[in-house]
Amino acid sequence: MPNQPIATVTLVVDAAAPAEDAIQAAAAAIRRGELVAFPTETVYGLGANALDATAVARIFAAKQRPAADPLIVHIAAIEQLALVAAEVPPLALALASAFWPGPLTLVLRRQPIVPPNVSAGRDTVAVRVPAHPVARALCAAAGVPIAAPSANMFTRPSPTEAGHVLEDLSGRIELLLDGGATPIGLESSVLDLTQPQPQLLRPGGLPIEALRQFVPDLEFNPRYVDAHTPEAQAAPGMLLKHYSPRAELRLYAGSAERAGARLLADARQALAAGRRVGALAPDEDAAALRELGVQVVALGPGADLARIGRRIFAGMRALDRAGADLILARGVGRAGLGLAIWDRLVRAAEGRVIDAGD
Ligand code: TXA
Ligand code: MG
Repeated sequence: MPNQPIATVTLVVDAAAPAEDAIQAAAAAIRRGELVAFPTETVYGLGANALDATAVARIFAAKQRPAADPLIVHIAAIEQLALVAAEVPPLALALASAFWPGPLTLVLRRQPIVPPNVSAGRDTVAVRVPAHPVARALCAAAGVPIAAPSANMFTRPSPTEAGHVLEDLSGRIELLLDGGATPIGLESSVLDLTQPQPQLLRPGGLPIEALRQFVPDLEFNPRYVDAHTPEAQAAPGMLLKHYSPRAELRLYAGSAERAGARLLADARQALAAGRRVGALAPDEDAAALRELGVQVVALGPGADLARIGRRIFAGMRALDRAGADLILARGVGRAGLGLAIWDRLVRAAEGRVIDAGD
């Protein structure tokens, strides 16, 4: 915690065509070693000069992130990859050519120019070229790679709006570029190419089905770990408690019919017990829940995973602000973006998944 709060300046920018003066101001701040939050196509990032170990250390302090959890380095274009990655295997080049700029992060061998604290002491580095015009312009203008985790406090839901960044980090960062809501709303997919077999460390905005064009047998088999165990050091991205609202969240799996019915029954019971119940629900479920007295965030039609993905973190925050102490959510299918949505819900639920059957 910094002793002196920092005055956080917010600059509103056009998401499609950010004004040059705002971008130049942000780029200069990055070069001075300051912290700048900015929108990407996935979520807001908390950026600092990736080649400046002192600036990078400030990222960890600002969001109270454990030093063992490495950061993603954002570059302006594929041509900068060799600056931060020591080896670029043909598969990395093929994936980068196909999906950058975009929501794919590749873990590669780290160049010594990237300070060790970026990667939590590992000899690898996670890197991506973001697609959002504001992020692209900032990376290009800064002239240095930008290390940026999501711009939330550690374990809080990722920020998909500028207001979420201020909720968590006001007084802890110098600058925020407010480019409105982020279009994907789920973090990037993280693919480790330093293992004998490519490993999907985090499903995200680029669906696993797209990655399988290049890695046909790619699977996602998460082994979520508790923060207080030794395994947490070895698998920093796999912390079970992550992306959590303050309220207890329960996730209902199984067929829409059975999971929906079980959720409704549990909502009734919890309300009777005096709990303040909220729900993250597909539009189809919203009316029945509201009738009971549940605070509902309707995420969109159940089949519209892009819309649900865009709104899931904002929904968690909204229910926290509304004072819910229990949040009920129904699982989505795991195809496409569903896999990333499912992963975020399981972690927000800290593993409390109730299987209502098929
Ligand atoms: O979409 C995104 O990826 C956003 C935007 C801002 O780019 N960033 C983001 O960063 O979500 P963060 O720090 O919240 O998540 C980074 C993930 C973590 O799970 C971290 O453990 C993993 O990437 N990671 C970073 N560097 C790694 C490395 N060298 N080896 C393995 N995993 C790494
Ligand atoms: Mg994060």
